[in-house]
Amino acid sequence: MTAEPLLRGKVREVFAVGEDRLVLVTSDRISAYDVIMPTPIPGKGRVLTALSAYWFRTLADVVPHHMISTDPEDMPEAFRAEAREGRAMLVRRLAMFEIECVVRGYLAGSGWREYRDTGAVCGHALPPGLREGDRLPTPIFTPATKATSGHDENITRERAAQIVGADAVADLERLSIELYRRGHDRCAEVGIILADTKFEFGRDATGGIVLGDEVMTPDSSRFWPADEWVPGRPQPSFDKQFVRDWLDQRGWDHSPPGPELPAEVVAGTRDRYNEAHARITGATPATDSRNPQPR
Ligand SMILES: Nc1ncnc2c1ncn2[C@@H]1O[C@H](COP(=O)(O)OP(=O)(O)O)[C@@H](O)[C@H]1O
Ligand SMILES: [Mg+2]
Repeated sequence: MTAEPLLRGKVREVFAVGEDRLVLVTSDRISAYDVIMPTPIPGKGRVLTALSAYWFRTLADVVPHHMISTDPEDMPEAFRAEAREGRAMLVRRLAMFEIECVVRGYLAGSGWREYRDTGAVCGHALPPGLREGDRLPTPIFTPATKATSGHDENITRERAAQIVGADAVADLERLSIELYRRGHDRCAEVGIILADTKFEFGRDATGGIVLGDEVMTPDSSRFWPADEWVPGRPQPSFDKQFVRDWLDQRGWDHSPPGPELPAEVVAGTRDRYNEAHARITGATPATDSRNPQPR
């Protein structure tokens, strides 16, 4: 019944609905180091969809967003089943900007490595002596290319301006920083450090800038438990770092296929995603083996 997707991403399938709308169906697949793991994380698609919907609603005063509905009633027939599972979102189709709008408030991952090697991140000179996991004096915009295959690559704002235009990049930077600040403050209220995150924007039919894709989920962000934050080392997290750590211990070389994930890694990841969702949105965790009591 369901038509062929317009686009099959690592985690989501994108279907066209007429000329100007899309349905994004988020699967339970998890990718690490840009490779899709053979083992799904039950409920992950629902968590990513619900968190994105929460942020679109909460941040609508900062920037228009692409979400039309997640209600099965509003969904084309072919996607009602996915909508009932909470994995489908009807959105406005946008002409996406060909950059990823990354904001970093803390030093981690490729930002930390670039700083350690050069003292700067994507052209932002930073104070000397920062440690892995340290908070930055102010959040910085560190765009990346959208690699169709392989790894995204950090670029300077000058390079980003060549790709999307100087005016657009200034708007994208301003909006990304504002969204990050708002997200950071909400997360701080519930004991989560939003260390960094990635937004994707596009233009609608009138040329206006619209927030698309997913927003501040554990797939697109680093979420750290605030009470365990200790700079100078990698941080424990509510995101897929848990899976990456397990893969690293195993010495997997990042070439596909990835290994099957054992039950405890699946459960640990599921619990972390559920916990991030429950804390941020204030919803009761659906299934969390560590916190069986509703809070
Ligand atoms: N409103 C929109 N209009 C057009 N494309 C969109 C919109 N929102 C998200 N997308 C695109 O849909 C795809 C989502 O699938 P995903 O699994 O996240 O892909 P990826 O593996 O590239 O991360 C991405 O390519 C994203 O840029
Ligand atoms: Mg994506």
